[in-house]
Amino acid sequence: MSRTRPAPLKFAYWVPNVSGGLVTSTIEQRTDWGYDYNRKLAQTAENNGFEYALSQVRYMASYGADHQHESTSFSLALLLATERLKVIAAVHPGLWQPGVLAKWVATADHLSGGRAAVNVVSGWFKGEFTALGEPWLEHDERYRRSEEFIRVLREIWTSDNANFQGDFYRIHDFDLKPKPLDVPGRPHPEIFQGGNSTAARRNGGRVSDWYFSNGKDFDGFSEQVTEVNQHAEDAGRAGAVRFALNGFMIARDSEREARETLREIIAKANSDAVEGFRSAVQQAGASTSDKRGMWADSTFEDLVQYNDGFRTQLIGTPEQIADRAVEYKRRGANLLLLGFLHFQEEVEYFGRHVLPIIREKEAELDARSPEALLQSVPGPTPAA
Ligand SMILES: Cc1cc2nc3c(=O)[nH]c(=O)nc-3n(C[C@H](O)[C@H](O)[C@H](O)COP(=O)(O)O)c2cc1C
Repeated sequence: MSRTRPAPLKFAYWVPNVSGGLVTSTIEQRTDWGYDYNRKLAQTAENNGFEYALSQVRYMASYGADHQHESTSFSLALLLATERLKVIAAVHPGLWQPGVLAKWVATADHLSGGRAAVNVVSGWFKGEFTALGEPWLEHDERYRRSEEFIRVLREIWTSDNANFQGDFYRIHDFDLKPKPLDVPGRPHPEIFQGGNSTAARRNGGRVSDWYFSNGKDFDGFSEQVTEVNQHAEDAGRAGAVRFALNGFMIARDSEREARETLREIIAKANSDAVEGFRSAVQQAGASTSDKRGMWADSTFEDLVQYNDGFRTQLIGTPEQIADRAVEYKRRGANLLLLGFLHFQEEVEYFGRHVLPIIREKEAELDARSPEALLQSVPGPTPAA
């Protein structure tokens, strides 16, 4: 039997395209949300081991994030400023018509040499939809709409005569020209999905290329991998979904320094904003009957990093962080999505001090685990 080396763990960073940084705290954050900072950051990131960047979509202030750059236009600007980085633009079904987005992505893909991707987010911020005069659907209806949205994107990108009859979207004999670029190993631009509720796990398995988990400990992450893989198998797409996990990284020369930084972030938390966020995100998984999903069991401290990034515990020395990163890989992570306090300098620190140790430990893992050697990157599998 031929042995395939497992794909190396991939890395993405959160694009700081909204103001206030990645933690809701008054601690100094040497991170800027403007374009000049972000252009340089994207270039630094692609030279320090990052294959992806994930932009955020926010239309108005939300418990911090007072200023926001629009996700798709900002993502395109970063694609044009870089050479290899894949930039994932976050989009809300309900605010975008999927055919229009499919067209936008196709153009962005041509302009960037095949590096455009999307993150389909079903939304938690009711006030934003209300302010824009759009209906706010109940939680599982939002996910039903997101599933259709993803199916429409895939249909339009891969068919010369796209047709779709759904409850939310209808497409009639639509032929997108040009199609996205033909990139080896990629049937169409990659479709990520954010959300961890029961409905999100189902969509992850049934239609997504990538499933994004919020920050989680080892068991919390493994549980999702198992369940999403089961949904994928039930939908005839066994092994087709790849897994990405969010984590807020505090890598310092000593563990004490890293822990002290975490302590200071939390001690200086902006309590009103964190509590406001906590109440708004009750619209997410907590609003469903089984009460599973993002933020459903988050503590105040977790929410200071608004994607539960401390829970992944990528906090300590490069060696300690590398051990955890490799353990997450062993449990099924294909990609780590990282946030930082001071993005520019910490992305560089990651590339210089953390990544080389992760690569060493991955090689040890591969040598130890024969199953890992037989695992290969999932190929294109059609959605059910
Ligand atoms: C990695 C990741 C990125 C996300 N980015 C955004 C975003 O930019 N804008 C947004 O409104 N929601 C974003 N979300 C949140 C989703 O819209 C959704 O509300 C959330 O995942 C809750 O889903 P759940 O109820 O299925 O757990 C993101 C979620 C994840 C996991």
